[in-house]
Amino acid sequence: MTDTRPRIVVTRWIPEQAMDVLRDVGDVWAPDPDRALPAEELHRVLAGADAAVVTLSERVDAAFADAAGARLKIVANVAVGYDNADVPALLDRGIVFTNTPGVLTDATADLAFGLLLAVTRRLGEGERLLRSRTPWSFHLGFMLGTGLQGKTLGIVGLGQIGRAMARRALAFGMDIVYTGRRRAPVDVEESLRARYLPHDELLRTADVVSLHCPLTPQTRHLIDADALAAMKPSAFLINTTRGPVVDEAALARALRDGVIAGAGLDVFEREPEVHPGLLELDNVALAPHLGSATVETRTAMAVLAARNVAAVLRGGEPLTPVKE
Ligand code: DGY
Repeated sequence: MTDTRPRIVVTRWIPEQAMDVLRDVGDVWAPDPDRALPAEELHRVLAGADAAVVTLSERVDAAFADAAGARLKIVANVAVGYDNADVPALLDRGIVFTNTPGVLTDATADLAFGLLLAVTRRLGEGERLLRSRTPWSFHLGFMLGTGLQGKTLGIVGLGQIGRAMARRALAFGMDIVYTGRRRAPVDVEESLRARYLPHDELLRTADVVSLHCPLTPQTRHLIDADALAAMKPSAFLINTTRGPVVDEAALARALRDGVIAGAGLDVFEREPEVHPGLLELDNVALAPHLGSATVETRTAMAVLAARNVAAVLRGGEPLTPVKE
């Protein structure tokens, strides 16, 4: 008897709920224990796959598709960002590519706002002080931070996560300006009381610049030394999108030299490395790419990816295809 069940390769650990969805439609291969597979090994296990579930750590390109071979029908990215994928190379071969929009919006905006509070209220610095057992006592001038009420948040990219960030900032009494490739619909601008500004003017105006644009050739190093110099010396930069949107070496210099006041970073140019200059500074709050890292959100992301695979393997339409 020939085995006709589809072969599904899962490149990293995903929650059981998502594995159950996949097991319903095929035979699932996943690394045990969970580990990052070197490209050569990944390409070996991909051979003959009908579907692949990947994370942003895997490069999905022509070599990936060729390694899988002619049966590959879908690659499901467990992430909303897909700069790890050469989407045209897949679409040219008739392979469906999907991402996970919508389900990680709140978790990522929560983390972005958390980093904003952490850096403006010096939470990391305070914790380091206590853990180092440095003597301290309460006094009125001790470890003063920056309040947010009445300050202006500048959002770069008013997509779903940018809008969720704006809603949080409104609740903290901030004013909202935004920039991006195009204007948001009027009802969105009105509900967020958000004012569109050209990129340069936003940099000059905002007390906090928060990045929510995808990484593309156009946004790589969007925040470089010139952009940082255009910001107010009292301003903060928050990055929860992709590290290479910021020139990390330029940022480390700007933070050291007081060109801007501080930064909150969840993503880095060469993850998992962090620019050594950043590690030495107190005016930066750092997190290891935790934007979507809640049990609920990661489960929702993986289940959405698995449902995309199931839909395509059953001959149906994917739920969240990338069509670029
Ligand atoms: C994404 O989805 O793009 C995040 O960076 C990882 O959750």
